[in-house]
Amino acid sequence: MTAHLDSYKYLSPVWPHYTPIIASRAEGCYVYDQNGEAYLDFTCGIAVTNTGHCHPRVVEAIRKQAGLLLHGQINIVVHEPMLELVHELRQIVHPSLDGYFFTNSGAEAVEGAIKLARHATGRPNVIVFQGSFHGRTNATMALTTSKTIYRAGYQPLTPGVFVAPYPYAYRYGWDEETTSRWCLEELEFLLLSQTAPWETAAILVEPVMGEGGYVVPPTSFLRGLRQICDQHGILLIADEIQSGFGRTGKWFAQEHFDLIPDIMTVAKGIASGLPLSGVFSRLELMEKWIPGSHGGTFGGNAVACAAGVATIQAIREESLLENARQRGEQLISGLRHLQEEYPAIGDVRGLGLMVGAEFRDAKRQPDKAAAKAVVHAALERRLMLLTCGPWDNTIRWIPPLIVNAEQINHGLEIFRQSLQEVFG
Ligand SMILES: Cc1ncc(COP(=O)(O)O)c(C=O)c1O
Repeated sequence: MTAHLDSYKYLSPVWPHYTPIIASRAEGCYVYDQNGEAYLDFTCGIAVTNTGHCHPRVVEAIRKQAGLLLHGQINIVVHEPMLELVHELRQIVHPSLDGYFFTNSGAEAVEGAIKLARHATGRPNVIVFQGSFHGRTNATMALTTSKTIYRAGYQPLTPGVFVAPYPYAYRYGWDEETTSRWCLEELEFLLLSQTAPWETAAILVEPVMGEGGYVVPPTSFLRGLRQICDQHGILLIADEIQSGFGRTGKWFAQEHFDLIPDIMTVAKGIASGLPLSGVFSRLELMEKWIPGSHGGTFGGNAVACAAGVATIQAIREESLLENARQRGEQLISGLRHLQEEYPAIGDVRGLGLMVGAEFRDAKRQPDKAAAKAVVHAALERRLMLLTCGPWDNTIRWIPPLIVNAEQINHGLEIFRQSLQEVFG
């Protein structure tokens, strides 16, 4: 098919484009442009194509389901792929979370989780963390504090949202435990000074912060959150939209911290690229959610659910969690090695294949220009990377979980050349 290049200019400018690539096809770790040039894709379409592009098993499941039933609206019929998906999820989600609701996007899942928490507790307010990203719909904008661009010009936002600090130790310049303790104290203070526990429905947290800078919190922080929630009857919602489905080397990042949330949200990697997201919680909580008060026409689409089943099976049968752990270690050690040579890389952090390299200048100030220049130089060498963080100075590495050792080395070599080009 010839692309209608002329149509490009009619696309809404509200979409910034990080690359000029017009993709014709993609396979595994590579995206191919119109001239057949291959790009090593370490963005995964922002943490979506965890099984690689067009994984044969997922494509086959989609083809098969497309010929059977495209749309079976959940209020009218229940379709088989959804039941099969719940069966698969029951094997990987903590058994206490035995209620499943599906919707289409990450933001919709977060909105659903907040609505559930409000009905289940009868309380109005929500606490989120500084730097979090939970979406760009009207309500999730109010929960998102990773950059002002997501809020500016749209305020005033949905009320009842309170912001506590996230333990971004590198930013504060403190050790992890000091940072964790301080953040928990500030949270307690928030509950004393701004939103009383009895009017706080939920605390919403990313177990590993994504858009806000790829920050891994200390275990003590998430344990502390669990304790505070238990003490006050506040529901703990884990947003696993970016960190789920094997990204960190476990099915869900919460497992690294032995965290059992009351509610969790998933999206992105769940169906390898088809729009699907979910809210999972104890059925006992979902039973307090007034029937019909939430839902949607497309939620839990049959083809997307079939893709979800194939995605989970592929991750399990191809030992992709183990691969994510091993390749993640290789990647982090390669980046730390480069950090010794290039002090502009102030910090390297991450879990599994959710890895960030933060750029700082000689005065330890966030260096967005350097991060952007390196990403640009890498793209010239056909490696796709993204930045993140409030200053956009952290390069995030999100390779597919099928990536092999050679491809990681190739990515690191391109990165080294790009650093050399930018810093000499
Ligand atoms: C942690 C987290 N929550 C929510 C969202 C919103 O998901 P979506 O863009 O599918 O609405 C994102 C998207 O990046 C995310 O990373």
